Amino acid sequence: VKISVIGAGNVGATTVQRLAEMEFGNIVLVDIVEGLPQGKALDLMQAGAIIGYDTKIKGSNDYADIADSDITIITAGAARKPGMSRADLININTKIMKDVCENIKQYAPESIVIAVTNPLDVMTYVALEVTGFEPNHVFGMSGILDTGRFASFIADELACSKRDVEAMVIGGHGDQMLPLPQHSSVFGTPLPELLGEDVIAGLVERTIHGGAEIVALLKQGSAFYAPSAAIVQMVESILRDEKRVLPVSAYLEGEYGQKGIYFGVPAKIGCDGIEGIIELELNEEQKQVLEESSASIKESIDYLDV
Ligand code: NAI
Repeated sequence: VKISVIGAGNVGATTVQRLAEMEFGNIVLVDIVEGLPQGKALDLMQAGAIIGYDTKIKGSNDYADIADSDITIITAGAARKPGMSRADLININTKIMKDVCENIKQYAPESIVIAVTNPLDVMTYVALEVTGFEPNHVFGMSGILDTGRFASFIADELACSKRDVEAMVIGGHGDQMLPLPQHSSVFGTPLPELLGEDVIAGLVERTIHGGAEIVALLKQGSAFYAPSAAIVQMVESILRDEKRVLPVSAYLEGEYGQKGIYFGVPAKIGCDGIEGIIELELNEEQKQVLEESSASIKESIDYLDV
């Protein structure tokens, strides 16, 4: 197995660290900055001698090194600064995505592509357009992270283990994401039976702004520990053909009443990428939020020149 990670910044390098420790296969780390991926790859290889893994990690500035990757993860691009929304990154990151995806198309045409760069749903669309790969082989990481944030806040509120929380967040990876309390539960009990409406509303609000909360605290850069953990969960489900249902940004062809856009939905993830999309029941208010969220993604796609 060969996994390539494009972008050796916070998310990319931390993802490589997690993947290396799991020994899924060889890893190539690519960045435009000379020396950066090489230096981080060496450091991570040496960590293997201490932790005890034999994963081979190669740092490179040359896309020829990603040849024949089974999975390519795109983390290249600018991250938010305090006060910025993910959408503010659209111009700079579209250019970067185009460059990266031309190279993936040329060197790793059989690869499954996981996009991470923000604004996520729009950048995943760029990846599909530029690579021309099948939609089930191109998808984005967002929902696992948002769901993880929601689950973490729920566990704190109930003073229970995060492992006993099943949360669900769908929709665009932005201010219009849609945490779903009725599809979230703790040890089988739906959230609305465990917490009052006001408390749930507070947790939902904090989840929606969970990324911005971290950006504001860090003052430089954005989250990467939870994002890299989310990426690895997707990689694991693909490589082990687990067929787990995970919330990811998937290309919709009629599901949830949407066509031709990427959007966060629960999907079955296995060795063939997205192997099915699960349609959850939503109330009228939630359907409305989804409509607004998809409209803003469509607007961005129209604005793009891909
Ligand atoms: P970072 O700034 O630490 O790293 C980005 C890396 O991309 C840098 O090393 C930079 O040199 C590299 N890069 C820039 N242009 C490139 C190109 N043309 N080819 C190859 N490499 C290039 O940023 P960080 O924190 O790693 O975030 C990366 C991206 O992931 C950002 O767009 C961020 O918003 C996004 N993100 C998305 C999440 C999600 O839920 N989907 C969660 C966290 C971050």
